Parts: sequence; C-alpha cells; structure tokens
Amino acid sequence: MNYQGVLEGLPDAVIVADSTGRVVLWNAAAEALTGRSARRATGRMLKELFSAHAAVVRRVDETLATGESRSEPDATLSTVEGRAVPVSLVTAPLFAADGTVGGAVGVLRDVSRIRHLEDELRRGETLAAAGRMAVGFAHEIRNPLSSIRGAVQLLARELGPDSHLREYTDVLLTEVGRVNRIIEMLLDLGRPVQLRAVPLNLYQILDRVVLLCEEAARERGVTIVRRYDPSLPAILGDEDRMVQVFLNLVGNAIEAMPSGGTLTLATRVSLDPLFGKMDLGAGQRAMVEVVVADEGVGIPAAARARIFDPFFTTKERGLGLGLAICHRIVEEHRGVLQVDSTERRGTTVTCFLPVAR
Ligand SMILES: Nc1ncnc2c1ncn2[C@@H]1O[C@H](COP(=O)(O)OP(=O)(O)O)[C@@H](O)[C@H]1O
Ligand SMILES: [Mg+2]
Repeated sequence: MNYQGVLEGLPDAVIVADSTGRVVLWNAAAEALTGRSARRATGRMLKELFSAHAAVVRRVDETLATGESRSEPDATLSTVEGRAVPVSLVTAPLFAADGTVGGAVGVLRDVSRIRHLEDELRRGETLAAAGRMAVGFAHEIRNPLSSIRGAVQLLARELGPDSHLREYTDVLLTEVGRVNRIIEMLLDLGRPVQLRAVPLNLYQILDRVVLLCEEAARERGVTIVRRYDPSLPAILGDEDRMVQVFLNLVGNAIEAMPSGGTLTLATRVSLDPLFGKMDLGAGQRAMVEVVVADEGVGIPAAARARIFDPFFTTKERGLGLGLAICHRIVEEHRGVLQVDSTERRGTTVTCFLPVAR
C-alpha cells in the first residue's frame, strides 16, 4: 500500500509536525488550502508559517504537550494571500516507539461552502418570514390607498388646472405613488418569483441598466466603466428580473459614492474556486460573473451580515428591500451573490449566474 499516495489524494489538508513543532509533512490539499507549497513548508516551524495564535498552531501545540487529540469545528485559517478560510480542524498525537509524543498530525477541512449554505439557509428563512408578513399587510394597505388616489384625482379635477391648491393634490399623488411602489416591492418579496427564463445576453441587460442610471450617476460625478468579456456565453434568465437585480446593485453603488468616483461593471467567465462551477442537479455547470464595483463608503463590518435582511438600511430614505429582492431573484436563477467591502475604499458585489446550455 502506497500511503504517500493516499495522503496526497485526500481532499482534506494533512499537516504533520514533529515534537518541536517543525513541519515534516504537508499534503497536496494543504498546499491548495494554504497557498503554500510543500517544498516551502516542510522543515519550517508551524508557528512561523501561521501566526502563533492561529488555531492550527495552538491545537498542534496542545496535542504535542498533552498527547491528546483536539478538535475545533469553527476555526479560521489565513492563506498566504491573507484570505481567511473557515476550516474544521482535528489534531491527533503520533507516538514514538518508546511511548513519548513524537509528533502531531493536523487534519483541516475547508468548510467555506458549508458555511455559505448555512448563511443562505438562515437568510432564506428571514426572507420567507418577512415576505409572508409583507404580503398580508400590503394587501391591507393597497385598497384604502387606491381609494385615496381616486379621491385625490377627483379633487384635482374639481379644482381645475389653475387652482393654487393643485400643488397639494400633486404632492398627494406623488406620495401615494411612492407608497404604492413600496407595496409592490413588498408583494414582490412575498410571492413566488415566476421566471420566464430564456437565453440572455448580459451586455444588453447591463447596457439597459446603465442607460437608466446615467442621470443619477452624472449628478454625483460617478463615471461608469464597462469591462465586458466579449466571449461571455449567454445565461438562462428572466430579462426583467435581471434588469431589476442590476438596477439595484448599480443604484447602491452610485448611492455609495456621494462625492463621485468610478463604478466598474465587468463580466467574465468565473474561475472562482467556490462558485465557478456549480452542481445544479444535472452535473457541473459553468458560471459567469457580473461584477459591480464601486469606490464608495464601503460597508462597516457590523452591517455586513445584515445587508440582505429585508428593511435593513443605513439611508435616510432607504427601504432596505433592494438587496433582499436581488438575493431572492438571483437565488431563483440558481446563482449566488457575493459581497466584498472595505470601509472607505469601496464595495464589490459579484453575481454568479449559471450559463445557458
Ligand atoms: N455598494 C454599497 N456600498 C455601501 N453600502 C452598501 C452598498 N450596497 C448596499 N449597501 C448597504 O446595504 C444596505 C441595504 O441595501 P439595500 O437592500 O439596497 O437597501 P437600501 O438601498 O434601500 O438602503 C444599504 O442601506 C447600505 O448600508
Ligand atoms: Mg438599494
């Protein structure tokens, strides 16, 4: 039996340290997970490769000191590029022939996909609950609202075009319109999305969105840069729904740059390790990415977990429904939304969508 081959073939990262904490084995999965080659890792102290506080270093040290196994299901590992990867971690002692602890083995499993799915599930539950509530109360408001609108329209007609009171009826109609739009959005969140999915060319959709947002961008001194991959395959999607998603994302990006900046719209075939290929039930499907990047205020760490929650907003006149609706629509398209943000530097929202075939 070729044990070396077994270790190399394992999907879990296996790291072995000797009794002093020096790395003696580093399999292929450990290379992939950490971004560090076996050649560069073996022979070095584990605590030089990671920080001394890193979970893997602490647990290996404990195992070396006590001869006992340790496990940490919710640990984090920093890669060479400084990315934090959620991992589950188990360590076990290796005993020498004389019964002393001769080393320790650490087994690390990348749990990013599982964590992502858990987040999705939680998000989905909040959305479903909010949606049910919203539908109930939107219906209650819709009827009286249309009576108000009817009455105001009659009033405006009675007053005639020259009355100075027309100013007030105009305000009433505008505001009723606003409430109506809010209700439509609430209903949208609550009812199942009926997709009319056809093969779509993403540029046409993005160009339409840019056209609709140009005015708002100009007002804030925001330049929109388009970086489309000309060989991008078509996606399977619902045109109006896709426009709705990108209108929201581009709108948020513009609103995040009150004193101007560059908004980049890019498309590409995804090479992402996590979402570049998704199994949608009938084998692996390639994904494309639409990236909406701004140089705006960014999202504070404390807000990051809540931006998809319905009604979460940091804007004075915000509704906090935009991202909730985007999430809903992208999910129905079997896609994924990913947000990366640095405060005061900007935000990048990546929308992964499966290609049509
Ligand atoms: N591009 C962005 N830059 C900074 N913050 C953002 C961005 N996109 C979303 N956010 C944050 O997420 C919140 C929710 O966004 P959204 O659901 O679209 O609602 P709204 O735009 O009505 O506030 C925003 O209030 C804002 O705090
Ligand atoms: Mg918004």
